[in-house]
Amino acid sequence: FQLPTLVNEPFGKTSFGPESPERARLVNALDDLKKAGAEKIQPVVDGVHVSGKKAAQQVSPFDHKLVLAEWEQADASLVEKAITGALEAKQKWVQTPLHERAAIFYRAAWLFQNDYRYKMMAATMLGQGKNPYQADIDCVAESIDFLKTFPALAADMYKNQPPFNAPGIWNRSEQRPLDGFVYAVSPFNFTALAVNLVLAPIIVGNVVIWKPSPGAMLSSWLFNEIMIEAGLPKGVVQFLPGDAEEVTNAVLSSKHFAALHFTGSTQVFQSLWSNIGSKIGFYTSYPRLIGETSGKNFHLIHSSANIRNAALKTIRAAFEYQGQKCSACSRVYIPESVAEEFLSIMVSEVKKLSMGSEVTDFCGPVISKTAFDRVCGYISQARSDDSVEVLVGGDSDDSVGYYIRPAVLKVSQPDSKYMSEEIFGPVVAVYVYKDETYGNELFQIIDETSDFALSGAVFSNDRDAITQATEGLRFSAGNFYVNDQCTGAMPGHQPFGGSRGSGTNDKAGSATLLQRFVSARTIKENF
Ligand code: ALA
Repeated sequence: FQLPTLVNEPFGKTSFGPESPERARLVNALDDLKKAGAEKIQPVVDGVHVSGKKAAQQVSPFDHKLVLAEWEQADASLVEKAITGALEAKQKWVQTPLHERAAIFYRAAWLFQNDYRYKMMAATMLGQGKNPYQADIDCVAESIDFLKTFPALAADMYKNQPPFNAPGIWNRSEQRPLDGFVYAVSPFNFTALAVNLVLAPIIVGNVVIWKPSPGAMLSSWLFNEIMIEAGLPKGVVQFLPGDAEEVTNAVLSSKHFAALHFTGSTQVFQSLWSNIGSKIGFYTSYPRLIGETSGKNFHLIHSSANIRNAALKTIRAAFEYQGQKCSACSRVYIPESVAEEFLSIMVSEVKKLSMGSEVTDFCGPVISKTAFDRVCGYISQARSDDSVEVLVGGDSDDSVGYYIRPAVLKVSQPDSKYMSEEIFGPVVAVYVYKDETYGNELFQIIDETSDFALSGAVFSNDRDAITQATEGLRFSAGNFYVNDQCTGAMPGHQPFGGSRGSGTNDKAGSATLLQRFVSARTIKENF
């Protein structure tokens, strides 16, 4: 059989302009969701919606009085039941040929694109605080791309096995799924990341215990419903909303735990790693640990760059989705010779960014009160720090939603905490360097200032300067961009992930990632 040709979904091409039919349908979907009242969400185990412990709520960050979902929490005994059911479901799923798994993925892609498109966008917007453009590239383009990319990558992987055969001997290699189940833990900030985290393991025959993020409960629930409607057999994905500690402890108490597929903070990933490491002899196999975590991503601007382009791309990378992308730009290096031009464009353009809950607003809220307090804490410390100048933004208001005006800080110390700590909000710090330090002196500062190595970019029209940065910053970012913003990796085009404190660099939506979920068996047969 031949899988369909892979074509990426149009990336942010829908205008949602005032008179467009897309705008009208989106506004209807948003209204429907607001009027519908809280969606009642339950764990789904072996295809059955089951009651859990007392309900928790998902409120909209645009308006914390708007309750979008009430979800019941899985307890330890339900997790145990889910693991047993998943391992039973696996017996058949392992035997299911790739083309049948692929058909379920393509059907799900169709449902994302058609029946669920506006409902999913509305859930992602209201639940996770996105504007239409950000919701479209997340839960339409990127999610569908993952759904279509995985079958193609799996087909390639199964095909490319090494057959070195001598006369009378047939050697073959079988890519088995892992010996146990995969635990997927998804974050609030991208609906598409839940798609990546849950579906990469299952396309190659694994089963998944999934703990969705409380901050993305509604869109996660819809995604799970889509997979059921698309025909995913019962038990292959067990949907287990719950208290992170309780669900995780129950999962890690099973000797059949075979892999962690995680996106979230470095701190949580490291504590999971320690927990798993402390009982390593207990597990049937060495668990695979796959994590995509925090970042402190940089834009390095050379004096030869188109400064306006660099400033506008920096605004997008730093402030789209309020800086709540692991890839968001949060530190900038600008040479003295062009600093004034760059900063004046930044300040005047940032002032123009609209903020609110209208579909036309560029900025929305940050995800929660906790996030609001953390980001505001950084800004108020910056205001009282003599080595920092708040050039624009930083005002905040949480009376209705969790709003913080995008803030540009100018720092005089390159190792300032605003240049090294992940803030995960609409704050970018700018350091002005002396032009003559461009090269190893500056690269060393960039490389050593933060513990992370996720994304970065250089802006320049000088080939030597580009080459120097590309080579000098080899280990400072897993995704490196030349004359483009450091966000917005597209599945299949720019496999995404970083190393050091940013994760295991297994690259979302890539062949490398699928390899982590298989364990080969070599078979030699004599004739
Ligand atoms: N994959 C997302 C990006 O590149 C996080 O921005």
